[in-house]
Amino acid sequence: MMQQPLFTVGDVPVFGDAILSPMAGYSDVPYRALCRAYGSAMHYTEFVPVEALLGKRVHERFRQRLDTQPGEHPMVFQIFGNNAQMLLDAARRIQEWEPDIIDINMGCATRKVSGRGAGVGMMPQPKLIEETFKLLSQHLEVPVTGKIRLGWDATQENFLQIGRILEQNGAALIAMHGRTKVQKYGGQANWDAIAELKQAVSVPVIGNGDVQTPQDIDRMKAHTGCDAVMIGRAAIGNPWIFARQRREELQIGEIIKAVRLHAREMVNYYGETSGLRQFRKHLKQYFEDIPDIELDRLLSTESFAEFGVFLGEVETAVPADVHIKNLQESLSFHSA
Ligand SMILES: Cc1cc2nc3c(=O)[nH]c(=O)nc-3n(C[C@H](O)[C@H](O)[C@H](O)COP(=O)(O)O)c2cc1C
Repeated sequence: MMQQPLFTVGDVPVFGDAILSPMAGYSDVPYRALCRAYGSAMHYTEFVPVEALLGKRVHERFRQRLDTQPGEHPMVFQIFGNNAQMLLDAARRIQEWEPDIIDINMGCATRKVSGRGAGVGMMPQPKLIEETFKLLSQHLEVPVTGKIRLGWDATQENFLQIGRILEQNGAALIAMHGRTKVQKYGGQANWDAIAELKQAVSVPVIGNGDVQTPQDIDRMKAHTGCDAVMIGRAAIGNPWIFARQRREELQIGEIIKAVRLHAREMVNYYGETSGLRQFRKHLKQYFEDIPDIELDRLLSTESFAEFGVFLGEVETAVPADVHIKNLQESLSFHSA
């Protein structure tokens, strides 16, 4: 029997309710492959500025951001800019990569992006959002979606107005991070606001912000009625969240296995030196709550063979079937 999709984005079916957030510097081809293996249901590219797509040649750095693996579907290509025509031109250029969906980033809060009216800097410009979505949904064959925040600051939380504008102008899905631009990552994400947005629009809504455990996925869904949940920071070094496995319940052997696999994917994709260097930020997160691991050696090696040897030593020092929650105990037992 054919599996029923949980929801559709335009005519693109989505088969799960936990989705890896777009994260520049993290949600690249290798990490997306791992998260998908654990159950992440839809993927976004890291965001790309429209300007990078409008020149004769797309710079290698951005080409890499637009890269996907065969079979990686649904794949959402995310762009940002502050001009409707440029956003359309950039989206058209992306057709070369055969996207399933085009997403407009209206959530990035960095000064460089939002300060020039792109990212969350679009939210105080409802007319620009209206024009952009009208243009893109008229001219593109693929669905167009938006990722927003609550608004600019506590006095301008206009997500309901923007949500309705998006829907009326052809957006096929809205993802919302429950914070304002001014909050950046401070305070707590407002899940009540996600519930309000879900009530106000009829297109699917993805809730985002502060989902840290598998239980939180279900809590956010129950609290907001959202169609799916997007997980960012808590998924770094923790792809198991997509399989709804609690980190404390993992055995150390499973973590080492994922580290080995992820490192190998990085090396295959970026080459040995660059792959291992770029893997370091992930590695710190994988081993963040595991005491007494000699991380320095793993972090400094530029040889994949040596990395494998060091990782093997970690593996033999710690019994593979110990759960993280019991690790401290087991390590002190070993060194006694
Ligand atoms: C390192 C980093 C990079 C990010 N890059 C992007 C991006 O390229 N596009 C985007 O829409 N959001 C980006 N975000 C925001 C996340 O997608 C997400 O909205 C935010 O982290 C809140 O979710 P969380 O509480 O689950 O982390 C980024 C976040 C982080 C931490």
